[in-house]
Amino acid sequence: MTVSDPVVESVIATISRSATEIRQGLIGRRGTVDEENPSGETQVEADIWADELLGDRLAGIDGVGQYASEERAEVEDCGGDPAMEDVYAVAVDPLDGSSNLKSNNAMGTIFGVYDAALPARGETLVAAGYILYGPITTMVLATEESVTEYELTGGERTVVDRDVRLPDEPVVYGFGGRVPDWPDDFQEYAREIEQELKLRYGGAMIGDVNQVLTYGGIFGYPGLESRPEGKLRLQFEGNPIGYIVERAGGRSSDGNQSLLSVDPDDLHDRTPVHVGNSELVERLEDRVENRIA
Ligand code: F6P
Ligand code: MN
Repeated sequence: MTVSDPVVESVIATISRSATEIRQGLIGRRGTVDEENPSGETQVEADIWADELLGDRLAGIDGVGQYASEERAEVEDCGGDPAMEDVYAVAVDPLDGSSNLKSNNAMGTIFGVYDAALPARGETLVAAGYILYGPITTMVLATEESVTEYELTGGERTVVDRDVRLPDEPVVYGFGGRVPDWPDDFQEYAREIEQELKLRYGGAMIGDVNQVLTYGGIFGYPGLESRPEGKLRLQFEGNPIGYIVERAGGRSSDGNQSLLSVDPDDLHDRTPVHVGNSELVERLEDRVENRIA
């Protein structure tokens, strides 16, 4: 199955073809380097390597006007203005959850294709997806038409679910951050959810969100007492995941509104992130105050 817009299809094909290579290249690149990313997090060798690989390939596509990544401070101008027709900006988290590389746990690659110059609202996304490096490599891709899950092998993508929908009955939840750092209203909400659902938290957003898409439930990384804006980044994580979950029939929220409506100030802005079954996200919005709104 291909996507109708040729530029968007090229972006998706390039990322999905690179995934097997990225997975293979993780071997030998597990160590940390003496650098921090623009959000102040320690980088591992594989973060920098995957960013360079994807950046070079995506910037070479005609119609990709901008490339931005969690691993570089500035937007790269690739020779086109995303305000023009058929020119897009691609934002990537090359290795989501890369601190899991040390313990050999799940990780992912996240991408968003925006029809606007970065930083942009999630509403301008025309496609978003993620690769999950689990026991097998899968890709979940959301476009304006559908949400599809693929298995990726040797450069090929094979459809395994043509119409991914969040199950109606939620089963799992996962919330990030230290419990004592959660504001009281979020702690109360979490206590209630614990009575209803099973905990599934692996420390890589992609792994945790894929559990929610598969079984139904809620994933959240809330605003913290020590950091009201939370941990996850709007352009590279919140928007693409919000787009995917909303397209699959669920909801996304920063605690106040859909992630896709949030106005960004800066490329590396952080935001509280909550995605999952509509009823659970609505209940969260009723209970939890967004302290950065
Ligand atoms: O990209 C940030 C990230 O690695 C996410 O994948 C994950 O959800 C979160 O950080 C984990 O943070 P913590 O270690 O605080 O649970
Ligand atoms: Mn990440």
